[in-house]
Amino acid sequence: MKSTLALSAILVPSALGQIVGYYSWNWSTGSKGPSGSTIGVAFTGLINTADAIAGYTPGASWCCPELDVEQPMLSLGGGNAAGQFTVDALSAIQKDLDLVTAANYTGIVFDVEEAIGSSEALISAFQTTFAAAKAKKLSVVITTSHSAPYATDTPSVAVDLVKSWCSDPNVDVISPQLYSSGMEATPETDETASCVDSGCTWDLYKDCLASFVPSIVDETHVAPMNSYFQSEQGMSTDGYLVWAQMV
Ligand SMILES: *[C@@H]1O[C@H](CO)[C@@H](O)[C@H](O)[C@H]1NC(C)=O
Ligand SMILES: *[C@@H]1O[C@H](CO)[C@@H](O)[C@H](O)[C@H]1NC(C)=O
Repeated sequence: MKSTLALSAILVPSALGQIVGYYSWNWSTGSKGPSGSTIGVAFTGLINTADAIAGYTPGASWCCPELDVEQPMLSLGGGNAAGQFTVDALSAIQKDLDLVTAANYTGIVFDVEEAIGSSEALISAFQTTFAAAKAKKLSVVITTSHSAPYATDTPSVAVDLVKSWCSDPNVDVISPQLYSSGMEATPETDETASCVDSGCTWDLYKDCLASFVPSIVDETHVAPMNSYFQSEQGMSTDGYLVWAQMV
């Protein structure tokens, strides 16, 4: 929300003054995203850096388009066992940061939906990883399932993680996913069911240092998303990332 504080100089908003971007999946046709996008995200759902880079081969006939944007980013992690975060997985990401820069990505999108470990261990590993990425001049984006990861050792770990991300000056953008299947007709503004009783509400985002840029199914969800956050939460968004593929 306090975007100007944390917004990295290289994270350029679109002409609309909003951050607009998209995911391009490494299966099917991939996506070219909305016009005016400044961020394109190579998405495989994998947590291992070398696998994620190898899985998105831009321009290859069996894969996906080039990310023709100012900020091509690599997504790591995802919503199943192949994308689970652990302290070891984060250590491996730190060791592999040079692979990300060598592949000409300008940032990493951490898709954190499942995380194994204690709050203390995970928070420390995320902070160290984000700092190491910034030291390599990589932008740091976090996307999560609704308001927090849905699978953690206990619900309070999910709450603690979001709190730590929102107070970390090395996180440029935080992007809650306002969908479950990605086929929804309207944005899902519900907070994560597994931790909402422990406090993973939108309140956690109200003093966030990072720009608040939800992931939505498509651009028809922009107006209802903004209306919900403004009228129900007293918050404004700084842009959006589009999940559905646009070819
Ligand atoms: C795309 O990523 C998936 C993992 O989600 C991987 O299994 C698959 O091999 C990748 N596809 C290609 C064409 O590399
Ligand atoms: C990265 O960009 C440099 C400079 O434009 C280019 O020479 C190099 O081939 C690119 N590397 C990859 C893996 O695309």
